[in-house]
Amino acid sequence: MFGIEPAVTASAPGRVNLLGDHTDYNRGFVLPTVIPRKTVVEAALGGGMHEVYSATLDRLVRFGPGELVEFARYVGGCVRVLEQRGIEFPPLKLRIDSDVPVGAGLSSSAALEVATLRALAALLGAELDPEQAAALAHRAETEFAGVSCGIMDQMACSLGQAERMLFLDTMTLERRLLPLPAGTELLVIHSGVPRSLATSAYNQRRAECEAGAALLGIESLRLVHDARSLERLPSPLRERARHVVTENARVLAALGADAVGFGALMNQSHTSLRDDYAVSVPAVDALVAALQQAPDVFGARLTGAGFGGCCVALVVEGTAVGTGNQITKTGFEFLPTVVVPSPYS
Ligand code: GLA
Repeated sequence: MFGIEPAVTASAPGRVNLLGDHTDYNRGFVLPTVIPRKTVVEAALGGGMHEVYSATLDRLVRFGPGELVEFARYVGGCVRVLEQRGIEFPPLKLRIDSDVPVGAGLSSSAALEVATLRALAALLGAELDPEQAAALAHRAETEFAGVSCGIMDQMACSLGQAERMLFLDTMTLERRLLPLPAGTELLVIHSGVPRSLATSAYNQRRAECEAGAALLGIESLRLVHDARSLERLPSPLRERARHVVTENARVLAALGADAVGFGALMNQSHTSLRDDYAVSVPAVDALVAALQQAPDVFGARLTGAGFGGCCVALVVEGTAVGTGNQITKTGFEFLPTVVVPSPYS
């Protein structure tokens, strides 16, 4: 694209969340893992304006200092948060390529932010540990991309490891890498429905949680210790809070669970996301129900923010082989297309 070799190349994977959705901005618990699909950022010093080429979109954008342009606003946000730390930026040339599907609930934006920060740090010889990279990526997203998200995605993309679940306490950032339940693997399937209205509805849910916590006189819903106290809340704040409180409990229960127990928690999580948190859509519900009834599936749920996108299922090891969508012990294949179409797709 630019007629030069990259000076540095960095990458970061997407993630799939197994349990603990809409808990992170309530300072709760999450349990994601990385997927073997990633975003690659090649970088070199340029001249004039910053130039960012997306091979995925086949689009080139140019922007000056402080500007946030189209898809490059994620890159621009990363530049800005590093500048705020006193790092001076010469004009950059970046080439981005990614096989993390966009709008699927698999954190394509966090993968782009973490990969960009890794590339920029390497290019300028700056130290950036994985926790700092996650924190800066999170600031790039919340301050410059307009989503009031929690820290899960950036932590997962920065610190996650293949075939390990990242248990993260988003209040303390205490974390542990854990194996999947014995004899299982993961299947990730797109519902065929792109996420819609995700940003506004997401920010609205977050506001509802904060309103609920304020009415209860606590800083965050993480601090609810007795679920009966939620009965005081008006609807729908009561239902939103009930999801968060029960979802946190499910993540903790999953830590020692076998495959059957873990799957049951995933099924309960989907019901809670659908009925109490109201972030599912009919196509996702239909796909999850089909998965839950399928042989060799321990449990299934929507994953990520909701409003469309992917479902994740915990299945008997070996079951997903051949679908092209399994995370196996040795690797991952994930077809770019919808593999199991829902009745609505
Ligand atoms: C999005 C956000 C995360 C998290 C999930 C829902 O992926 O970026 O911070 O809130 O939704 O669990």
